[in-house]
Amino acid sequence: MSGLSFPARDHGLRSGTGGARAPWRRRHILGMDGVSREEIEHVLDLAESHIGDRNGERWPEVLGGRTLMNVFFENSTRTRTSFELAGKRLGADVINMAVGTSAIKKGETLLDTAMTLNAMRPDVLVVRHNESGAVQLLSEKVDCAVINAGDGSHEHPTQALLDALTIRRRRGPLDQLVVAICGDILHSRVARSNIFLLNTMGAEVRLVAPKTLLPPDVERFGAAVHHDMRNGLRDVDIIMMLRLQLERMQGSFVPSTREYFQFYGLDRDKLLHARPDALIMHPGPMNRGVEIASELADDINRSVIREQVEVGVAVRMACLELVTGGLAGTGGTVVE
Ligand code: NCD
Repeated sequence: MSGLSFPARDHGLRSGTGGARAPWRRRHILGMDGVSREEIEHVLDLAESHIGDRNGERWPEVLGGRTLMNVFFENSTRTRTSFELAGKRLGADVINMAVGTSAIKKGETLLDTAMTLNAMRPDVLVVRHNESGAVQLLSEKVDCAVINAGDGSHEHPTQALLDALTIRRRRGPLDQLVVAICGDILHSRVARSNIFLLNTMGAEVRLVAPKTLLPPDVERFGAAVHHDMRNGLRDVDIIMMLRLQLERMQGSFVPSTREYFQFYGLDRDKLLHARPDALIMHPGPMNRGVEIASELADDINRSVIREQVEVGVAVRMACLELVTGGLAGTGGTVVE
């Protein structure tokens, strides 16, 4: 794999037995809040074993005969495709349901949809919903494993896991690192999941945003807050840029996107304040020229945005494997 220089390790993990070896006892993956360091490392190690050159060999079909349903109540291209590919690589039957365009439009409730899906007996539901908490609610009503692919502005756990693996492959252990998360933190499920994960892993987290784009209870995240981007970026190892989530904004949170770029957009000048080897990340989709200068997004020496996408498939393979392994009764008690 081009560009990924941190050496892959042999973790001695046997595919499909995540639940057997593991500190993995969860039926669902709903968020990073409360997930332990040991569990996070376990997912990352398993994902690591799925990355890279397979010399023409296929992945082990540990999900053969299993059914994965992608249930997206909100539009998505990259996350849905990433889960679809992850499921197919491991041999699952994958069904994509764009619920936003189907029964829900006809007035069906979330719980009716859940019961309908449940009756089809899937093994895993991957769910995205525009309301915070909806995925958890759905998980309480079905018999199969549920993975949260993003709920409102609450959590997006697989994005945080793939970000963590991208960083670990480039920079090694996360507890040595300073990470700045910049931009629309108020509306960002990616930010929340990353804050939980990074805190658990012992990284130093800084939040860089105007007051209007921070949650009112921001102190409870245990991260330093900066309103001046140059100060916030000083000597950081990792810069995570977030999209201005215009679709979640009611009213005006920023004067204009042009002014926003001037103060909070990542450009060469602001980047000079970070460490000279600081990595630039973005979960996508990007608003070029709004939160990030186009030339930095494409700078192969600094930006790892494409690697995030590549690593994302491996992380989702690991997540699918772990939740189905747990259900197969490989030893652990299911805790969620
Ligand atoms: C993120 C999301 O949907 O929360 N994107 C993604 O998962 N690819 C971030 C965003 O929409 O800005």
